[in-house]
Amino acid sequence: MEQPLSISQPTEATAQLRCISCGATPASATQDFRCANCGDLVEFVFPGRTFDPLTLKSVWLTRKASCHKLDQSGVWRFRELLPHIPEEHAITLREGNTPLYDLPRCARIAGLDTLQAKHQGMNPTASFKDTGMTVAASSAHQGGFRWVACASTGNTSASMAAYAARGNMHNLVLIPEGKISWGKLSQSLDYGALTCQLRTDFDGCVRILNELVRRKPVYLLNSVNPYRIEGQKTAAIELLEQLKWDPPDHIIVPGGNLGNSSAIGKALLEMRELKLISRLPRLSIIQAQGANPFYRSVREFGGTKLEPMTADTQATAIRIGNPASWKKALRVLRATGGEVEQVTELEIAEAKAEIGADGIGCEPASAVTLAGLKKLLRRGFVKQSETAVLILTGHLLKDPDFTIKFHRGDLFPRTPDAFQTAQIGPLQRAPVVLDADLAAVIAALDAAESRNS
Ligand code: F0G
Repeated sequence: MEQPLSISQPTEATAQLRCISCGATPASATQDFRCANCGDLVEFVFPGRTFDPLTLKSVWLTRKASCHKLDQSGVWRFRELLPHIPEEHAITLREGNTPLYDLPRCARIAGLDTLQAKHQGMNPTASFKDTGMTVAASSAHQGGFRWVACASTGNTSASMAAYAARGNMHNLVLIPEGKISWGKLSQSLDYGALTCQLRTDFDGCVRILNELVRRKPVYLLNSVNPYRIEGQKTAAIELLEQLKWDPPDHIIVPGGNLGNSSAIGKALLEMRELKLISRLPRLSIIQAQGANPFYRSVREFGGTKLEPMTADTQATAIRIGNPASWKKALRVLRATGGEVEQVTELEIAEAKAEIGADGIGCEPASAVTLAGLKKLLRRGFVKQSETAVLILTGHLLKDPDFTIKFHRGDLFPRTPDAFQTAQIGPLQRAPVVLDADLAAVIAALDAAESRNS
């Protein structure tokens, strides 16, 4: 059997858990991944880790030609920067390896010379969650857990259910009843999860789950689990490799529970420390206006506190009012000199259709990135000649209901105001119902042609 390619320095000895607030370094994690001293989150640190950056980059590239399952994964290919998990426990669906696309129309619309998108929706379960789940599910397997569990707005649960099935573990999904897309729900059902729809929102599901893991030997797979964050770092590492290690000026991410922004920021800081890159991109975080506790924390309270809220947005993936990782996200926002922004429901829908019109597509939560970028440009935080990468977190087909309602004109109130009509009208493409008649189809074609010319 082919051996995975390794380099001489082991990472096993160097990964250490550390509390983000009091700095305690526990030998092992608690059930809820919170510090036993102060209750804050823990993270992995790698004291004393050094690599020759050129060797590391070349080993990672060489692995692309290998047939070994770890080398074929766009997460485990970068395993020197992850906590060590023995290969027999690694559960992989060959996640990562996601494309970096140009978005020429979106660039024009936004007023940028160039714009790119890293499409994390091109992962095995069609969202960025797979990059973290492969690592965290593997750690559950290593720990010998029979059950894993998560609270979710739909993507984490879809991903967890797939990886648990691959690793022969039972899995429990807690999702809010309603306000979850059918695409995501259908995934966790098909992958065999015990799926409980609780009569509450995402934050209510998290509260129940936190109690549950203290009572039952169930392994928690939400993004408070630091293995998730480590895996999600690889999206940024892979991005920089795709850019030949020349950092963009800006990276824009959606903010929900704030695990992903924390992970991408952590990767950027680690890559600079290891001299894989020589300067930091600014990492900016965009929230929906109806689910904006982090935006408000930064803008209104200078990051000194976060006031939980009851969240509401049609971008259901980020319908979150009490984000667990806000302190981690704040730290990377500050360290990279990024910004926060909020966007309206109309701006999200418009941006989603614009990304779709570039032939890429994404789910509503991902589209906040383009909507936010436009605002950052208008404010002068992003300049026309600067380079920017949007992190698209989920696939268009995750939430077809939103897309169909948008194009049919059912997403917003039936009597739109003039602003709404001007803003999204030209982007709407409702299906045309015709008789099965050649002349009718030709007439539709001619009408479309005259509209376009
Ligand atoms: N985009 C998508 C498509 C998501 O599913 C999520 C989060 C986010 C963005 C926000 O990422 O939470 O790391 O800030 N979805 C979680 C879930 C909460 O349960 O699937 P975050």
